[in-house]
Amino acid sequence: MNSKQLHVACIMDGNGRWARKRGLPRTAGHTAGEESLADIVRAASKREVSYLTVFGFSTENWVRPRAEVRHILGLHKKLFGRISELNENNVRVNWIGRPFDEPGSRTPLYVQRAIRKAIEDTKQNSGMVLTVAFDYGSRSELTRAAKMLVASNSELTPANLQNFLYDASLPPVDVLVRTSGESRISNFLLWQINAAKIYFTERPWPDFDAVDLDAAIALTKN
Ligand code: IPE
Ligand code: IPE
Ligand code: MG
Repeated sequence: MNSKQLHVACIMDGNGRWARKRGLPRTAGHTAGEESLADIVRAASKREVSYLTVFGFSTENWVRPRAEVRHILGLHKKLFGRISELNENNVRVNWIGRPFDEPGSRTPLYVQRAIRKAIEDTKQNSGMVLTVAFDYGSRSELTRAAKMLVASNSELTPANLQNFLYDASLPPVDVLVRTSGESRISNFLLWQINAAKIYFTERPWPDFDAVDLDAAIALTKN
């Protein structure tokens, strides 16, 4: 077995289409997607994945209908509230996105609290790091990093720019997954996917399972 510790990143797409196919409201698709994520976190934590980074909500997603946005925010509160499950799986929670105290940040206070609490209550775990990208956009991340680099008067090098990313300790992505038949990157981890393999699947996120995860991981072996 290859013991390399992997970074898997997922653009969790297709919740709405999954629901529509079943005659359900889009919100039901997001609920199913959150459950699928909980399953994938468990499965990944039992494999050679040391970092799992998922796109929960983008800087572009705020324009969606208010009721849908509210539902998705509630699901993030639920996700970050799964503390005992995360602790059972030795998973440490992490978050990337527009910093709460900076202009432009849109994360409401109750989601901020849930994020802070999940990070605090899982910080002792030594297993997989689950990074949730919420109010995240790669262009915002890179623009901010460039501004900070200029302000620091450091030399403009890739290593110095990397230091100013939301989480400079995130390793490069080994495989990027996008579900539901779209082959777009949608402003996700543009810097970190530099050398990543890409796994596209037709399956919508609520149906993504451990078999798909293994297929994505297998891409990193060749
Ligand atoms: C992904 O599913 C979830 C988020 C972007 C928050 P979508 O809601 O984009 O589902 P589709 O693409 O409309 O099917
Ligand atoms: C990307 O999915 C964002 C998340 C998965 C959170 P979208 O469904 O928002 O992406 P586009 O707009 O189709 O590219
Ligand atoms: Mg979509």
